[in-house]
Order: sequence, then C-alpha cells, then structure tokens
Amino acid sequence: MSAPEHADAVEILFQHQYAFMIPKIMFTASDLGVFDLLMESKEPLTSVTIAERLGTSPFGMERLLDACVGLKYLQVERKENQTLYGNTDLANLYLAKSSLKSQYHSLKFTSEFIYMGMQYLADSVREGKSQTDRVYGISGKDCFDALNRSESGLQKIFMGAMHEKWHLFGREIMTAFDLSHFPLVCDVGGCTGACAKEYISLYPNSTVTILDLPEIVEQAKNHYVSSQDHQITFHKGDFFKDPIPEADLYILTRVLHDWSDEKCVQLLTRLHKACKPGGGVLTVEMVLNEDRKGPVRCQLYSVIMLVLTEGQERTASEYNALLSAAGFKEIQQKKTSFYDAILARK
Ligand SMILES: C[S@@+](CC[C@H](N)C(=O)[O-])C[C@H]1O[C@@H](n2cnc3c(N)ncnc32)[C@H](O)[C@@H]1O
Repeated sequence: MSAPEHADAVEILFQHQYAFMIPKIMFTASDLGVFDLLMESKEPLTSVTIAERLGTSPFGMERLLDACVGLKYLQVERKENQTLYGNTDLANLYLAKSSLKSQYHSLKFTSEFIYMGMQYLADSVREGKSQTDRVYGISGKDCFDALNRSESGLQKIFMGAMHEKWHLFGREIMTAFDLSHFPLVCDVGGCTGACAKEYISLYPNSTVTILDLPEIVEQAKNHYVSSQDHQITFHKGDFFKDPIPEADLYILTRVLHDWSDEKCVQLLTRLHKACKPGGGVLTVEMVLNEDRKGPVRCQLYSVIMLVLTEGQERTASEYNALLSAAGFKEIQQKKTSFYDAILARK
C-alpha cells in the first residue's frame, strides 16, 4: 500500500471506529435544544451563551458544539475575539425539534434503541434471531407486541420515527406510479396514517383504510389523524389472522422487511385473496442491489432488522419471488432517492 493509500485507509479506520458516537452527538444536541435555540436566535451565539440559555456547563457545551461543527451540523466563525456557533441548513431542516421536517423521534429511536441493539449484534449473528426482548426490556410474541407493551414510551418514539420519514420521502414514493385507478385503498400496517394522507392529497377521490394493531390505531386516532380526515378509516386487527378489508390497492410500506420469507408470503397471500379483481399491491422498501454490493444504508438497515425484527432487506428479485409465490403478477419496480416502489397486480 502506498503512503497516500495508507493514510486514506487509516482515516476510514478512525472514522468508522468512532462512528457509533455520531447518533448520540446528533441526538444529544437536538434533545438539549441547541439547534432550536440557534434557529430562533437568528444570529450565531457563543458557547457560553448557549450553555447559559440551555442550563448546561459551558465546558461540556463547548465540546458538544465543536463535535457538531466537525459533523457539519453547526458552522463556526471567529468575530471580534469571540467564537460564534450557528446552524447549518441540515440542522435547521432536520435536527431542530420545531422544524417542520424534524427527525427528532427518528434520532431518539436510533440513539436509544438501535444503539442499544447493536450491543447484542454478535448474539443475533450467532443465533440468527432478534434480541428485541433484551433491547426493549420486555418480551412479546413478536417485536411489535413487545414495542406496544413496553412502558418506556417506546411506542410513541417508534410512531414518531415512522411518521417523520414521510416528510422526507412521502411525495416521491407515492408518485412513483400513477395509482389514480385504485380508489379503494387499504394501507396494511399503515401506522400513523402519514401514507394515507399523502395518498388522499394526490388522489382526492380515494378512500384509505388503515389496518394496524389495536394499540397503534388508538394512538393514530388520538394523535395523528383528525376527525376532519373523512376519507381515512381505521380497521384494528392482526394482518396475519384477522379479516383483511377489501380494496383495489393494498399498500405495504416498510412492512415486509420486518418479517421472514414465510410470513411475507403468508401476508401477501391473504392480501391476494382479499384483493378486488384487477387490483394490486404496492410495496415500498429500501431495495438491495442484485449484486448485493450496496447501497450501504440498505446493508446497515438489514443488520438493524436482524437485531430488532424477524426480517431483512431484500433485492428486487427476492421481492418478486415473494410476490409471485402469493399469486401476484405484472411486477414493476421504480427507484426513488431512498426507497423503491414495487407495484404488482392480481
Ligand atoms: C415498520 S412499521 C411501518 C409503518 C408504515 N407503513 C410506514 O411506512 O410508516 C410496521 C407497521 O406494521 C404494523 N404491524 C406489525 N405487525 C402487525 C400485525 N400483525 N397486524 C397489523 N399490523 C401490524 C406495526 O404496528 C407498524 O405500524
């Protein structure tokens, strides 16, 4: 290895070795209110002022702010013998809690639960199964049962994390295909109703039924979907055993990656049976390249799935195989910036 190659390799080694700190730094600064304060102040502030306003030690705050500068969440300038910190666009857009596109719950979920889950990665690899009970501190019949019964506020954080991604990708996912000929929709595992709202805003003559577990439906009704959203209805149930509402289109966003191949085929077969003739299923997932070389975010996410769920991320051919096994055909795939949309017909 030449000297520059060696230096590059050492830099990568160092960055990756300490990368586990990044979500902690990102979340801590967000949670303490650093990004909101700097967004509201409209002018850069010193670390002493930030510490004073947020009630922390100036010494600790300066360390945190400098790390945020290195990670490009903050910018720093020297002016009249003072060091002044201000938000970057990334912080204003996504890290401030009060931002419209805030990823606060998603950061919290990563910083607390995914971070904790990674302590058990070796156990998951050895045993080939999730460690949800150790991570969430409660066992359940599956990871969602544990999540809903946990008393650590996990369900609220999880729902918030799911919801926030729709502010980033909702529109491009739901416009990947023209879905105007599917007026009766069932969003299977529809969680907070973010996808349902996006669908209705694109196709105003449609109605969407959200099928989800009773505990999630209760929270969605209380906190996310208002009684003014007349075109959205709820159906409480377990999609593996309770009746599936009839629809032209079933939407499954980020659901199949939670489950084993057997359970995916079981669920898809139930949807195929309930689907109206000429209808279909729209699956949205982060799809792994056929050569399995990337994208790296997909490979990392698959490790999260190993530790926290029964599932994994899959290639397009693997999704095609699951859909075909359940009886779906005419399978088409469209890439978007982050997730892929796969439409299949009955
Ligand atoms: C990873 S989340 C995806 C949520 C949503 N589709 C999205 O993309 O924002 C999976 C969803 O499936 C729901 N779910 C899990 N198991 C279920 C079951 N057996 N029956 C019904 N819903 C279930 C969860 O409650 C959760 O809302």
